[in-house]
Amino acid sequence: MNTSALFGRMQLQHLSRSKLLEFGDHLFVDHPVIDAQHRAIFGLGTNAYENWRDGGSLDVLRPALEQLTNLMHSHFSYEERVLGEIGYEDLKVHAAEHRTMRDELSSMHDQLHSFQEGQEIREGLLLAPGWSIMQFILRFTVGHVAHSDMGYNQALVASRKRASAAATRSVIKLSKGDRFRVEQPVAHKISCLSGSVWLTIAGRQQDINLKSGGTHVCRNAGALVIDAVDDSSFRFD
Ligand SMILES: [Fe+2]
Ligand SMILES: [Fe+2]
Repeated sequence: MNTSALFGRMQLQHLSRSKLLEFGDHLFVDHPVIDAQHRAIFGLGTNAYENWRDGGSLDVLRPALEQLTNLMHSHFSYEERVLGEIGYEDLKVHAAEHRTMRDELSSMHDQLHSFQEGQEIREGLLLAPGWSIMQFILRFTVGHVAHSDMGYNQALVASRKRASAAATRSVIKLSKGDRFRVEQPVAHKISCLSGSVWLTIAGRQQDINLKSGGTHVCRNAGALVIDAVDDSSFRFD
């Protein structure tokens, strides 16, 4: 038996995924798309490692690493776009960490393609390609997601609060019989969210009855009067 060929796998047989790390709530950044991407990356990486640990060949490991690389590249791009949209102040530092991981993936790719089956020991060094992937996944989850990605969670929450406050501010509620007047409504859009409102626009012959779900974009420069037919709410954008 070629003991050196088995060494890289056998010494890791006792390490199940659950003993290393599970993907749980502690790694959620509270963004459904990003959380799903993190989970998928973790799943792909740990599956690749387990397949290799259980005797899988390099022919299985190589395409698994390709898939993992593609997923991580698209995740990094997506995450950087989200962070840019919310104006995250540490985006440059964060993107630099992503670049380091892109480089690591590229090195693993080169290592895997220069590696021959049955060569776990070369020049006194243990070459364990499946374990390299698992170590990389641990660095990604414990080292990056649990720290750097968690670092933008507060910025995400604050951005959501600002967006929801802005949306709430632009919702206007009227009780039945109330009146709301806008002097220069042209190019603004009125969206009735509930109840029913009556729009009278100076210079426009026909009035408009807007019911829940209905919208109207003002084309006239004349003043707009909104009368609540029922208890109503509307947005004015
Ligand atoms: Fe990240
Ligand atoms: Fe991330």
